[in-house]
Amino acid sequence: MRKVMYNQFGDESVLNIIEQAVPTIEKDQLLIRVKAVSINPLDWKVYGGEMKLMSGSKFPKSVGIDFSGIVEQTGSAVTRFTAGDAVIGLLDVFKGGALADYISVKVTDIAPKPVKISFEQAAALPVTGLSALQIIDQLAAVGANQDVLINGATGGIGVFAVQIAKKRGARVTAVVSTKGIAEAKKWGADMVVDYTKQPIQLLTQKFDVIIDLSTKLSFTKAKSLMKPKAVFVSTLPSPLALISSFINNLFSGQKHKILIVKPTAQGLNTLTKLAEADLQIVLDKTYPLTNVRDAYGEARRGKLIGKSVIVLD
Ligand SMILES: NC(=O)c1ccc[n+]([C@@H]2O[C@H](COP(=O)([O-])OP(=O)(O)OC[C@H]3O[C@@H](n4cnc5c(N)ncnc54)[C@H](OP(=O)(O)O)[C@@H]3O)[C@@H](O)[C@H]2O)c1
Repeated sequence: MRKVMYNQFGDESVLNIIEQAVPTIEKDQLLIRVKAVSINPLDWKVYGGEMKLMSGSKFPKSVGIDFSGIVEQTGSAVTRFTAGDAVIGLLDVFKGGALADYISVKVTDIAPKPVKISFEQAAALPVTGLSALQIIDQLAAVGANQDVLINGATGGIGVFAVQIAKKRGARVTAVVSTKGIAEAKKWGADMVVDYTKQPIQLLTQKFDVIIDLSTKLSFTKAKSLMKPKAVFVSTLPSPLALISSFINNLFSGQKHKILIVKPTAQGLNTLTKLAEADLQIVLDKTYPLTNVRDAYGEARRGKLIGKSVIVLD
Protein backbone atom coordinates (compact mmCIF):
# COMPACT_ATOMS: atom_id res chain seq x y z
CA MET A 1 0.00 0.00 0.00
CA ARG A 2 0.97 3.67 -0.40
CA LYS A 3 1.82 5.94 2.52
CA VAL A 4 3.11 9.53 2.65
CA MET A 5 6.24 9.87 4.79
CA TYR A 6 9.21 12.20 5.29
CA ASN A 7 12.76 11.86 6.58
CA GLN A 8 13.62 15.47 7.39
CA PHE A 9 11.83 18.69 8.31
CA GLY A 10 11.17 21.13 5.47
CA ASP A 11 8.52 22.35 3.04
CA GLU A 12 6.20 20.02 1.11
CA SER A 13 9.10 18.84 -1.08
CA VAL A 14 10.13 16.52 1.81
CA LEU A 15 6.89 14.51 1.41
CA ASN A 16 7.27 11.19 -0.43
CA ILE A 17 4.84 8.43 -1.35
CA ILE A 18 6.39 5.13 -0.31
CA GLU A 19 5.28 1.49 -0.51
CA GLN A 20 4.63 -0.28 2.81
CA ALA A 21 2.92 -3.40 4.11
CA VAL A 22 -0.73 -3.04 5.15
CA PRO A 23 -0.75 -2.62 8.96
CA THR A 24 -1.85 -5.48 11.19
CA ILE A 25 -4.39 -4.79 13.94
CA GLU A 26 -4.62 -5.58 17.66
CA LYS A 27 -7.83 -7.03 19.11
CA ASP A 28 -9.16 -3.56 20.08
CA GLN A 29 -8.29 -1.98 16.71
CA LEU A 30 -9.84 -1.68 13.24
CA LEU A 31 -8.27 -1.64 9.80
CA ILE A 32 -9.63 1.22 7.71
CA ARG A 33 -9.41 1.60 3.94
CA VAL A 34 -8.89 5.35 3.68
CA LYS A 35 -11.05 7.22 1.16
CA ALA A 36 -10.06 10.86 1.83
CA VAL A 37 -7.79 12.90 4.11
CA SER A 38 -8.10 16.63 4.75
CA ILE A 39 -5.27 19.15 4.85
CA ASN A 40 -4.70 21.12 8.06
CA PRO A 41 -2.26 23.98 8.84
CA LEU A 42 -1.04 21.74 11.69
CA ASP A 43 0.38 19.35 9.04
CA TRP A 44 2.90 21.84 7.66
CA LYS A 45 3.69 23.18 11.11
CA VAL A 46 4.66 19.61 12.10
CA TYR A 47 6.58 18.61 8.94
CA GLY A 48 8.12 22.12 8.86
CA GLY A 49 9.66 21.44 12.28
CA GLU A 50 7.76 24.21 14.13
CA MET A 51 6.26 21.65 16.53
CA LYS A 52 9.44 19.65 17.28
CA LEU A 53 8.84 19.91 21.02
CA MET A 54 5.56 18.00 20.65
CA SER A 55 6.27 15.83 17.58
CA GLY A 56 9.86 14.83 18.45
CA SER A 57 12.67 14.72 15.88
CA LYS A 58 12.82 11.00 15.11
CA PHE A 59 12.34 9.98 11.46
CA PRO A 60 10.66 8.66 9.37
CA LYS A 61 7.44 10.55 10.15
CA SER A 62 4.04 10.43 8.53
CA VAL A 63 1.36 12.98 7.60
CA GLY A 64 -2.43 13.38 7.66
CA ILE A 65 -4.66 13.77 10.72
CA ASP A 66 -8.33 13.45 9.81
CA PHE A 67 -9.83 10.96 7.41
CA SER A 68 -12.90 9.21 6.10
CA GLY A 69 -12.92 5.57 5.06
CA ILE A 70 -14.46 2.13 5.19
CA VAL A 71 -13.89 -0.49 7.87
CA GLU A 72 -11.98 -3.35 6.24
CA GLN A 73 -11.43 -5.57 9.29
CA THR A 74 -12.20 -5.45 13.01
CA GLY A 75 -10.22 -6.81 15.98
CA SER A 76 -11.86 -9.53 18.07
CA ALA A 77 -12.77 -7.08 20.90
CA VAL A 78 -14.48 -4.53 18.63
CA THR A 79 -18.28 -4.65 18.75
CA ARG A 80 -19.47 -1.19 17.65
CA PHE A 81 -18.38 -1.44 13.99
CA THR A 82 -18.31 -4.15 11.34
CA ALA A 83 -16.55 -4.54 8.00
CA GLY A 84 -18.12 -2.29 5.38
CA ASP A 85 -19.12 0.54 7.78
CA ALA A 86 -18.29 4.07 6.57
CA VAL A 87 -16.48 6.09 9.25
CA ILE A 88 -14.73 9.38 10.01
CA GLY A 89 -11.91 9.85 12.48
CA LEU A 90 -8.68 11.49 13.48
CA LEU A 91 -5.22 10.37 14.53
CA ASP A 92 -2.76 11.92 16.98
CA VAL A 93 -2.25 15.47 15.64
CA PHE A 94 1.54 15.38 16.15
CA LYS A 95 2.12 11.86 14.74
CA GLY A 96 -0.33 11.88 11.80
CA GLY A 97 -0.30 8.87 9.47
CA ALA A 98 -3.73 9.08 7.82
CA LEU A 99 -2.33 9.64 4.33
CA ALA A 100 -2.10 5.95 3.47
CA ASP A 101 -4.28 3.41 1.68
CA TYR A 102 -4.88 1.56 4.97
CA ILE A 103 -4.55 2.63 8.62
CA SER A 104 -5.08 0.89 11.93
CA VAL A 105 -7.14 2.86 14.47
CA LYS A 106 -8.70 2.45 17.91
CA VAL A 107 -12.46 2.39 18.21
CA THR A 108 -12.33 5.66 20.18
CA ASP A 109 -10.69 7.44 17.20
CA ILE A 110 -13.70 7.02 14.89
CA ALA A 111 -17.43 7.67 14.52
CA PRO A 112 -19.96 6.71 11.86
CA LYS A 113 -19.70 8.83 8.72
CA PRO A 114 -22.73 11.10 8.25
CA VAL A 115 -24.80 9.42 5.54
CA LYS A 116 -25.79 12.49 3.58
CA ILE A 117 -22.30 13.85 2.92
CA SER A 118 -19.56 12.57 0.61
CA PHE A 119 -16.34 10.88 1.79
CA GLU A 120 -14.46 14.04 0.72
CA GLN A 121 -16.69 16.29 2.85
CA ALA A 122 -16.55 13.81 5.73
CA ALA A 123 -12.73 13.94 5.81
CA ALA A 124 -12.95 17.73 6.22
CA LEU A 125 -14.99 17.46 9.41
CA PRO A 126 -12.99 16.02 12.37
CA VAL A 127 -10.10 18.41 13.21
CA THR A 128 -11.69 21.72 12.25
CA GLY A 129 -15.19 20.69 13.35
CA LEU A 130 -13.98 19.57 16.80
CA SER A 131 -11.89 22.75 17.09
CA ALA A 132 -14.92 24.93 16.27
CA LEU A 133 -17.14 23.01 18.73
CA GLN A 134 -14.58 23.26 21.54
CA ILE A 135 -14.02 26.98 20.92
CA ILE A 136 -17.71 27.91 20.73
CA ASP A 137 -19.14 25.62 23.44
CA GLN A 138 -16.26 25.20 25.92
CA LEU A 139 -13.61 27.92 25.69
CA ALA A 140 -15.90 30.84 24.82
CA ALA A 141 -19.23 29.33 25.98
CA VAL A 142 -21.04 31.36 23.33
CA GLY A 143 -24.68 32.05 24.20
CA ALA A 144 -27.75 33.82 22.85
CA ASN A 145 -27.44 37.52 21.96
CA GLN A 146 -23.68 37.64 22.42
CA ASP A 147 -21.59 39.61 19.96
CA VAL A 148 -18.93 37.31 18.50
CA LEU A 149 -16.12 38.36 16.17
CA ILE A 150 -14.45 35.56 14.16
CA ASN A 151 -11.14 36.65 12.62
CA GLY A 152 -10.33 34.29 9.72
CA ALA A 153 -13.92 33.13 9.19
CA THR A 154 -13.54 31.43 5.81
CA GLY A 155 -10.80 28.96 6.80
CA GLY A 156 -11.25 25.39 7.99
CA ILE A 157 -12.33 26.21 11.56
CA GLY A 158 -14.00 29.51 10.65
CA VAL A 159 -16.63 27.98 8.35
CA PHE A 160 -17.89 25.80 11.22
CA ALA A 161 -17.37 28.42 13.95
CA VAL A 162 -19.64 30.91 12.15
CA GLN A 163 -22.40 28.32 11.74
CA ILE A 164 -22.18 26.89 15.28
CA ALA A 165 -22.08 30.37 16.87
CA LYS A 166 -25.25 31.25 14.91
CA LYS A 167 -26.89 28.04 16.16
CA ARG A 168 -26.14 29.18 19.75
CA GLY A 169 -28.00 32.45 19.03
CA ALA A 170 -25.02 34.81 18.77
CA ARG A 171 -24.65 37.84 16.48
CA VAL A 172 -21.61 37.01 14.36
CA THR A 173 -19.16 39.41 12.73
CA ALA A 174 -16.97 37.52 10.24
CA VAL A 175 -13.58 38.93 9.27
CA VAL A 176 -12.52 37.66 5.84
CA SER A 177 -10.58 38.64 2.73
CA THR A 178 -12.53 39.98 -0.27
CA LYS A 179 -13.23 36.62 -1.90
CA GLY A 180 -14.96 35.33 1.25
CA ILE A 181 -17.54 38.12 1.75
CA ALA A 182 -20.48 36.45 -0.03
CA GLU A 183 -19.60 33.01 1.42
CA ALA A 184 -19.55 34.20 5.04
CA LYS A 185 -22.99 35.80 4.57
CA LYS A 186 -24.24 32.52 3.13
CA TRP A 187 -23.19 30.65 6.30
CA GLY A 188 -25.17 33.13 8.42
CA ALA A 189 -22.73 35.90 9.44
CA ASP A 190 -24.64 39.03 10.44
CA MET A 191 -21.79 41.41 9.60
CA VAL A 192 -18.78 40.87 7.35
CA VAL A 193 -15.55 42.87 7.50
CA ASP A 194 -13.00 42.66 4.67
CA TYR A 195 -9.65 42.79 6.48
CA THR A 196 -7.85 43.81 3.29
CA LYS A 197 -9.91 47.05 3.19
CA GLN A 198 -10.77 47.80 6.83
CA PRO A 199 -8.36 47.12 9.74
CA ILE A 200 -10.45 45.54 12.50
CA GLN A 201 -8.68 47.76 15.04
CA LEU A 202 -10.80 50.63 13.66
CA LEU A 203 -14.12 48.93 14.50
CA THR A 204 -16.05 50.87 17.14
CA GLN A 205 -18.21 47.92 18.25
CA LYS A 206 -17.22 45.90 21.36
CA PHE A 207 -17.54 42.10 21.47
CA ASP A 208 -18.31 39.44 24.10
CA VAL A 209 -16.13 36.92 22.28
CA ILE A 210 -13.23 37.34 19.84
CA ILE A 211 -11.90 34.23 18.10
CA ASP A 212 -8.62 34.61 16.23
CA LEU A 213 -8.07 31.90 13.61
CA SER A 214 -5.59 33.93 11.56
CA THR A 215 -2.77 33.89 14.17
CA LYS A 216 -2.34 37.59 13.30
CA LEU A 217 -4.34 39.14 16.16
CA SER A 218 -2.80 39.17 19.64
CA PHE A 219 -4.73 39.34 22.93
CA THR A 220 -3.09 42.72 23.61
CA LYS A 221 -4.37 44.13 20.31
CA ALA A 222 -7.80 42.52 20.70
CA LYS A 223 -8.42 44.10 24.14
CA SER A 224 -9.65 47.40 22.69
CA LEU A 225 -12.43 45.47 20.88
CA MET A 226 -13.49 43.48 23.95
CA LYS A 227 -16.24 44.20 26.47
CA PRO A 228 -15.05 44.25 30.13
CA LYS A 229 -15.85 40.53 30.69
CA ALA A 230 -15.15 39.30 27.17
CA VAL A 231 -13.22 36.18 26.11
CA PHE A 232 -10.45 36.11 23.48
CA VAL A 233 -9.64 32.69 21.97
CA SER A 234 -6.38 32.03 20.12
CA THR A 235 -5.12 28.83 18.51
CA LEU A 236 -1.34 28.68 19.03
CA PRO A 237 -0.59 26.96 22.37
CA SER A 238 3.05 28.06 22.75
CA PRO A 239 4.50 27.72 26.28
CA LEU A 240 4.82 31.52 26.54
CA ALA A 241 1.20 32.09 25.46
CA LEU A 242 -0.05 29.45 27.93
CA ILE A 243 1.84 31.04 30.84
CA SER A 244 0.88 34.63 30.03
CA SER A 245 -2.80 33.71 29.52
CA PHE A 246 -2.81 31.83 32.86
CA ILE A 247 -1.43 34.88 34.69
CA ASN A 248 -3.77 37.27 32.86
CA ASN A 249 -6.83 35.16 33.67
CA LEU A 250 -6.05 35.29 37.41
CA PHE A 251 -6.30 39.07 37.51
CA SER A 252 -8.30 40.37 34.52
CA GLY A 253 -12.01 40.27 33.69
CA GLN A 254 -11.04 39.99 30.02
CA LYS A 255 -10.00 36.35 29.59
CA HIS A 256 -7.54 34.77 27.14
CA LYS A 257 -8.28 31.11 26.29
CA ILE A 258 -6.08 28.97 24.04
CA LEU A 259 -7.30 26.06 21.93
CA ILE A 260 -5.68 22.65 22.39
CA VAL A 261 -8.09 20.48 20.45
CA LYS A 262 -9.10 17.29 22.24
CA PRO A 263 -10.24 14.41 20.05
CA THR A 264 -13.24 12.70 21.65
CA ALA A 265 -15.68 10.12 20.34
CA GLN A 266 -18.48 12.22 21.85
CA GLY A 267 -17.31 15.29 19.90
CA LEU A 268 -17.15 13.27 16.68
CA ASN A 269 -20.69 12.01 17.27
CA THR A 270 -21.93 15.57 17.85
CA LEU A 271 -20.33 16.62 14.56
CA THR A 272 -21.94 13.69 12.78
CA LYS A 273 -25.35 14.82 14.05
CA LEU A 274 -24.71 18.43 12.99
CA ALA A 275 -23.65 17.25 9.51
CA GLU A 276 -26.74 15.03 9.25
CA ALA A 277 -28.82 18.13 10.06
CA ASP A 278 -27.68 21.22 8.16
CA LEU A 279 -24.01 21.99 8.85
CA GLN A 280 -22.45 23.20 5.60
CA ILE A 281 -19.07 21.63 4.79
CA VAL A 282 -17.11 23.68 2.32
CA LEU A 283 -14.42 22.16 0.10
CA ASP A 284 -12.09 24.38 -1.84
CA LYS A 285 -10.24 21.72 -3.86
CA THR A 286 -9.69 17.97 -4.01
CA TYR A 287 -6.44 16.34 -5.18
CA PRO A 288 -5.35 12.78 -6.00
CA LEU A 289 -2.65 11.31 -3.71
CA THR A 290 -0.08 11.63 -6.49
CA ASN A 291 -0.40 15.45 -6.23
CA VAL A 292 0.27 15.49 -2.48
CA ARG A 293 3.05 18.08 -2.66
CA ASP A 294 0.95 20.51 -4.78
CA ALA A 295 -1.99 20.01 -2.44
CA TYR A 296 0.00 21.01 0.67
CA GLY A 297 1.83 23.83 -1.16
CA GLU A 298 -1.41 25.45 -2.34
CA ALA A 299 -3.07 25.09 1.06
CA ARG A 300 -0.04 26.59 2.82
CA ARG A 301 -0.12 29.64 0.53
CA GLY A 302 -3.71 30.32 1.75
CA LYS A 303 -6.66 32.17 0.21
CA LEU A 304 -8.79 29.01 0.28
CA ILE A 305 -12.47 28.95 1.17
CA GLY A 306 -13.00 26.02 3.52
CA LYS A 307 -10.82 22.92 3.24
CA SER A 308 -8.71 21.02 0.72
CA VAL A 309 -8.90 17.25 0.64
CA ILE A 310 -6.69 14.48 -0.77
CA VAL A 311 -8.63 11.59 -2.29
CA LEU A 312 -7.29 8.01 -2.24
CA ASP A 313 -8.69 5.51 -4.70
N1 LIG B 1 -4.24 24.50 18.96
C1 LIG B 1 -4.95 23.56 18.35
O1 LIG B 1 -5.34 22.55 18.94
C2 LIG B 1 -5.33 23.78 16.91
C3 LIG B 1 -6.21 22.87 16.28
C4 LIG B 1 -6.57 23.12 14.96
C5 LIG B 1 -6.06 24.25 14.30
N2 LIG B 1 -5.19 25.08 14.95
C6 LIG B 1 -4.68 26.30 14.32
O2 LIG B 1 -5.78 27.19 14.17
C7 LIG B 1 -5.53 28.07 13.08
C8 LIG B 1 -6.76 28.12 12.19
O3 LIG B 1 -6.97 26.84 11.60
P1 LIG B 1 -7.76 26.72 10.22
O4 LIG B 1 -7.77 25.28 9.85
O5 LIG B 1 -9.03 27.47 10.29
O6 LIG B 1 -6.73 27.51 9.27
P2 LIG B 1 -6.95 28.11 7.82
O7 LIG B 1 -7.93 27.26 7.08
O8 LIG B 1 -5.61 28.35 7.23
O9 LIG B 1 -7.68 29.51 8.11
C9 LIG B 1 -7.00 30.67 8.50
C10 LIG B 1 -7.83 31.86 8.09
O10 LIG B 1 -7.18 33.08 8.50
C11 LIG B 1 -7.43 34.06 7.51
N3 LIG B 1 -6.47 35.16 7.60
C12 LIG B 1 -5.17 35.20 7.17
N4 LIG B 1 -4.64 36.41 7.45
C13 LIG B 1 -5.61 37.13 8.08
C14 LIG B 1 -5.65 38.45 8.64
N5 LIG B 1 -4.59 39.27 8.61
N6 LIG B 1 -6.80 38.85 9.21
C15 LIG B 1 -7.89 38.05 9.26
N7 LIG B 1 -7.91 36.78 8.74
C16 LIG B 1 -6.78 36.35 8.16
C17 LIG B 1 -7.35 33.28 6.20
O11 LIG B 1 -8.08 33.98 5.19
P3 LIG B 1 -7.43 34.30 3.74
O12 LIG B 1 -6.73 33.04 3.30
O13 LIG B 1 -8.60 34.67 2.91
O14 LIG B 1 -6.48 35.43 3.98
C18 LIG B 1 -8.04 31.96 6.59
O15 LIG B 1 -9.43 32.03 6.33
C19 LIG B 1 -4.27 27.51 12.37
O16 LIG B 1 -3.15 28.30 12.74
C20 LIG B 1 -4.16 26.09 12.91
O17 LIG B 1 -2.82 25.61 12.91
C21 LIG B 1 -4.84 24.87 16.25
